[in-house]
Amino acid sequence: MIPKIQVRGLSKSFGSKIVLDHIDLDLMPGESFCLIGGSGTGKSVLIKCILGLLQPDSGHILINGIDINTLNRRDRQAMLAKFGMLFQGGALFDSLPVWQNISFGLMHQKKVGRKEAKEIAIELLSEVNLDAAIADVYPAELSGGMQKRVSLARAIACKPDVIFFDEPTTGLDPIVSGSINNLIIKCVRHLGASAITITHDLNSLRCIADRVGLLFQGKMIWVGTLDELETTDNPYVVQFINGNAEGPFTLL
Ligand SMILES: Nc1ncnc2c1ncn2[C@@H]1O[C@H](COP(=O)(O)OP(=O)(O)OP(=O)(O)O)[C@@H](O)[C@H]1O
Ligand SMILES: [Mg+2]
Repeated sequence: MIPKIQVRGLSKSFGSKIVLDHIDLDLMPGESFCLIGGSGTGKSVLIKCILGLLQPDSGHILINGIDINTLNRRDRQAMLAKFGMLFQGGALFDSLPVWQNISFGLMHQKKVGRKEAKEIAIELLSEVNLDAAIADVYPAELSGGMQKRVSLARAIACKPDVIFFDEPTTGLDPIVSGSINNLIIKCVRHLGASAITITHDLNSLRCIADRVGLLFQGKMIWVGTLDELETTDNPYVVQFINGNAEGPFTLL
């Protein structure tokens, strides 16, 4: 089976700061991969590189076995259009009401008409446990957790092939987090999408992950299944999942 995404030897620095140092990553079709690691270790930068939002310094990114650097601009755009992204900060359009935020890709890429686009947006609102009444509200009038759920609805609106979730449950109450986990599982298990989720939320990780990768000092220092995560004696993983104050992370 050809992986959906293959990252090979990807490196990225900002000035003299090396953020990603020869990262390899495979995402298989229908797989849910979770990326964990301390704050500022380059998790968001890694998915922004895969999405083409940041230019890596070196390395390769293959989508469905094709190196995106070999594609012309139009083909690359078409490939990236099959991706959905939930940005860490939400990144909603302030000047558009909620329903237009959700259906932005539907209307502008898929050319769905306004009426149908609004209907789909309202359906998606219920999927993320939000009331249809907020369809006409502007993002600034919503709480942070509500904005996050609207962003999530937008990320999945076009039924993407690959979905990237950057901290989908951070700042949400446990019940909403549970429903977001279910939604991610639904996207992967039922709709057949592949997903990369960045999370610090271990409950969420245990619900949604098939495999987990731990980023540390620019390197993917451990990759394994959820079962392996629970049983490994890798000191970095052990410290991370137990939240221990003492361990290799803190020796530095
Ligand atoms: N556009 C940019 N220009 C300069 N430095 C950047 C840029 N984007 C990220 N960085 C730096 O790269 C490093 C990794 O950032 P990144 O956002 O990937 O961290 P993260 O692992 O997602 O952290 P968190 O868990 O806090 O979200 C940080 O030191 C950050 O300051
Ligand atoms: Mg981040």
